Amino acid sequence: MNVKLTLNREFVKNRIDKRLYGSFLEHIGRAIYHGVYEPEHPTADDMGFRRDVMSLIRELDVPVIRYPGGNFVSGYRWEDGVGPVELRPRTLDRAWYATETNRFGTDEFAEFCRRAGSEAMLAVNLGTRGVEDAANLVEYCNYPGGSRYSDMRIANGHKEPHGIRLWCLGNEMDGKWQIGHHTAEEYGRLANEAGKLMKRTDPGIGLVLCGSSKHYDMPTFPEWDRVVLEQAYETVDYLSLHTYFNRQDGDTASFLASNADMEQHILDSTATCDYVKAKFRSKKTIWLSFDEYNIWNSTKDVFTRWSEAPHRLEAIYTLEDAVSLGGQLITLIRHSDRVKVACLAQLVNVIAPILTEDGGRVFKQAIYYPYLHASRYGRGQVLHTLTEGPSYECRRWGTVPTVDAVGVLGEDGSVTVIACNRSLDQSMTLSLRLQEFGRLIPERHILLTGDKDDCNSFEEPARVQPREVNDITEEDGQFFAELPPISWNVLRFRSAAAETAGQS
Ligand code: AHR
Repeated sequence: MNVKLTLNREFVKNRIDKRLYGSFLEHIGRAIYHGVYEPEHPTADDMGFRRDVMSLIRELDVPVIRYPGGNFVSGYRWEDGVGPVELRPRTLDRAWYATETNRFGTDEFAEFCRRAGSEAMLAVNLGTRGVEDAANLVEYCNYPGGSRYSDMRIANGHKEPHGIRLWCLGNEMDGKWQIGHHTAEEYGRLANEAGKLMKRTDPGIGLVLCGSSKHYDMPTFPEWDRVVLEQAYETVDYLSLHTYFNRQDGDTASFLASNADMEQHILDSTATCDYVKAKFRSKKTIWLSFDEYNIWNSTKDVFTRWSEAPHRLEAIYTLEDAVSLGGQLITLIRHSDRVKVACLAQLVNVIAPILTEDGGRVFKQAIYYPYLHASRYGRGQVLHTLTEGPSYECRRWGTVPTVDAVGVLGEDGSVTVIACNRSLDQSMTLSLRLQEFGRLIPERHILLTGDKDDCNSFEEPARVQPREVNDITEEDGQFFAELPPISWNVLRFRSAAAETAGQS
């Protein structure tokens, strides 16, 4: 079967904010301890960061990392995680029923981000704490010196401010599971007051307001979003969205097209923001921060309550998961006119693309690859992408296109087409009309496919991995390539003009 895709150099939609390829590190399970931080590990650097994990994070080129939670942040006292390590208290993490040693805190995270080449994104606790503590943390991190909390940072060995630009006003405050859960009215007011004081401390920061923690599964969506936006519209800059999908009832056809729901989630949230904008006759646009998304299949966690760094949510990802996640990445790129920040939840060990052994090996999960490719090749400007091809009916989302795709124009004039074939049994021939780009030279077709249940493990770390196929052909000014069933594809074209200019 055939899928026609048309891109035109003149039809650029918007520039993609590189923070679209962010991720998330929470104090949960082994994400921090034995994940990114393990001073006893043979590869540990002088700060105790695992170099083997760091090099994968650098390969992923993660532009921004959200921290310290997640549900964890709603019971966290940031002061417990700064200062001399031997004086830091052991505390109870009541979100995840673990003991937190506080050996890793805000200063270690800021340094970790510097070494990973990432920007830090911090969440403040609006569950058990409030306005003053939130503003104090901004002062600790960003104020140059000469005040109580900035001097505390300097005394802790960090003369230069951390300069953290992006701040979350709590986490999933609409959820009854959240420590210190609030009603929309309560949260909206608290977030507005906290945000005001945080911005008085550092007017250069950007603030993310908690939108709904789920889409249609959350009965308070989108009313929660409307109410909190009405309370805090002029103070905040972004509204957060969260979503996780799973392989429900083995319904692969629906699962592969989960991004249909993510599309609607973005459209509904945009409409809610713009409704409040119109109501207030405001000139300000609220951007979206999709700061938790991923595949989350259930795991059988066996752990002892209040243990340190227990094995929690260490999902193993399959090829099917990778293609489904690929759809989410396509959606984020397509809607990058409104979604400025997104965080794959999470980064290491906990529902993550990277899995480690305590003191030992690390491997790349199947979902590592779509995330890597989107981060590497999805930079530049997103193009209006016209596709014409077959569709199929699925139980959860109705009629969906069999092939979902998006085109990106790179700064160097290169064109990248990212496409998922969601057919369970049919290969699709993609015919590409690439108009007004000048002469394009097919460079590579990166393909991730296989058996839907294939996955990687410590014993077999490369069972699922991308390969290059040399199959892009050209005829009558069109390019053609084959997309196998259940596959993630990246097609790259170099600009001949840019190449010639580079040579002269
Ligand atoms: O990412 C795991 C958890 O999922 C986060 O702590 C929470 O925000 C969400 O419910």
